Amino acid sequence: MSHSDSQSSLIRIEVDGAEHPVPEGITVIQAMWHLGRPTIHGVGCLGGVCGACPITYRLPDQPASKTGLACQTAVREGMAITFIPSDSSKKAIALLPKEAPTQKTLFQYYPETRRCTACRACTSVCPQEIDVMGGVRAAINGELATVAEKFTTCVMCGLCAAVCEVQIKPHRVGMYARRLTGAFYPKEATSLLHRIEEVRSGKYDAEWRELLSGDLSALAHDRVM
Ligand code: SF4
Ligand code: SF4
Ligand code: FES
Repeated sequence: MSHSDSQSSLIRIEVDGAEHPVPEGITVIQAMWHLGRPTIHGVGCLGGVCGACPITYRLPDQPASKTGLACQTAVREGMAITFIPSDSSKKAIALLPKEAPTQKTLFQYYPETRRCTACRACTSVCPQEIDVMGGVRAAINGELATVAEKFTTCVMCGLCAAVCEVQIKPHRVGMYARRLTGAFYPKEATSLLHRIEEVRSGKYDAEWRELLSGDLSALAHDRVM
């Protein structure tokens, strides 16, 4: 425990069955570091986007366990935490087809998707609040664009696959649908085109010269937060 920790700000959490005092107001990953676990399996971006840190936890006043991302979940008094091993489901080496994809294309690599029992477990654990089961049902109906849209914010943490009773890998299905729709039905990147136009028109020339000069003080001053 660091000398800066005041006793009044400490709370007790349980990690893998053992109780520990940790400062309140920190995330679960920060708590692990505080407890002397500087490197734990499954830590990446610390920003909630890499999906490497799935956990399950239980709060004393709520009997049902919850799931989340350790870098995005704050410790709470009496919280019992277990880390879930990173997603180990195999990514199919899914080649892009020569012709426009169909439902068959998806099932060629993920045939188990058809076994969905509509139990909704995948949706209930998703830390991104994605309608995972809806995505799987859309895949079964051959609605690839809907699948791709539903999984846009997926961070590939694998929690949905971990709880699926029939070993469906919803996130992998979603990723493949996104690749297929991106390859066959690309949308024009209007924001990117607009920015390229701005760059070409010289809008950022002065800042660019400043950057190359090595004097970053003016840029830091102008930075919009
Ligand atoms: S869809 Fe699955 S892998 Fe993606 S964020 Fe949700 S639980 Fe994680
Ligand atoms: S957990 Fe599996 S079986 Fe249940 S709804 Fe999700 S994909 Fe279907
Ligand atoms: S470390 Fe990347 S999502 Fe938590």
